[in-house]
Amino acid sequence: MKVLLTGSCGYIGSHTLVELLDRGYEVVGIDNFSNSKREVIDNIKKITGKDFVFYEGDVCDKTILEKIFNENKIDIVIHFAGYKAVGESTLKPLMYYRNNIDSTLSLLEVMDEYNCHNFIFSSSATVYGKPHTLPIKENFPLSTTNPYGTTKLTIEYILKDLYKSNNDWNIVILRYFNPVGAHESGLIGEEPQGIPNNLMPYIVRVASGELEQLSIFGNDYNTPDGTGVRDYIHVVDLAKGHIKALEKLEKENSGIYIYNLGTGVGYSVLDMVKAFEESTGKKVNYKIVERRAGDIATCYSDPQKAKNELHWEATKTLNDMCKDSW
Ligand code: WQD
Repeated sequence: MKVLLTGSCGYIGSHTLVELLDRGYEVVGIDNFSNSKREVIDNIKKITGKDFVFYEGDVCDKTILEKIFNENKIDIVIHFAGYKAVGESTLKPLMYYRNNIDSTLSLLEVMDEYNCHNFIFSSSATVYGKPHTLPIKENFPLSTTNPYGTTKLTIEYILKDLYKSNNDWNIVILRYFNPVGAHESGLIGEEPQGIPNNLMPYIVRVASGELEQLSIFGNDYNTPDGTGVRDYIHVVDLAKGHIKALEKLEKENSGIYIYNLGTGVGYSVLDMVKAFEESTGKKVNYKIVERRAGDIATCYSDPQKAKNELHWEATKTLNDMCKDSW
């Protein structure tokens, strides 16, 4: 079974690559290092003691995709590659639409050419917009509040239309909640370029002294302590969810299946600060500031469908997430 990973050196891609190699899968990776580092390749080989085929290139470029499919018999594709910063997407919508949608269209066209129809797509809880109730189930209404989220939702519609047009397609859509943490080796993790947008990498930079103070974006939400509540999931649990999705595609030979990958538990910003301090012994200096535009108060998943159909559930604790992040 040969698996192609796009965005194989990225945060979720690299952790999934480790899990695949550990289970004896043959893997081909492609990455253009726009939001990742080349050293991740050697670190993955160090962690697993295994080798894999790697191509440097852009998934929008059909020439490199044709080369990969010509040189490797690809059975399944897991598509991680894409820009993912909500704030940046509101400033550069065209870059997000061009990159995230073009790369997916090129990839699907080449897959079809080579009669490869097994596809796992990295989607996001952001497609639920502001949920009308909680916890969030897969059949909830979909809406988006930023261009990044709209690229994810648009790709989901493309995949649904593709399956309707040709039932040879065998697709799993995975909607991630808030990935945090890192492989226990510390050799791979979340290394955003510049000032982190997300909470956990920001907390880590404050704890390490690299950044002065965490700004908590509002404590006047309708939540237990007033700060935003999210469903944080350890990136290794998330990676293992992709293995289960791949096993689902090995079992089925047609269909389109959608799953939330979350823990089903919501924690507030202050909960995360407290958990981080307790698990690492490091102090996190913070101040309360204005709400961040576009944020919602509370978001957490009902992961029951993935448990029933993929036989998957998150097992790592908040302590694991904080310790491994640190
Ligand atoms: C979490 C909570 C903030 C930073 C986003 C994307 C989502 C996915 C994950 C890609 C919120 C608060 C944060 C800070 C803070 N990305 N916060 N100070 O916004 O839930 O989700 O990242 O797939 O698609 O929407 O994650 O980590 O930015 O924020 O107070 O410096 O932490 O207000 O309540 P978010 P986040």
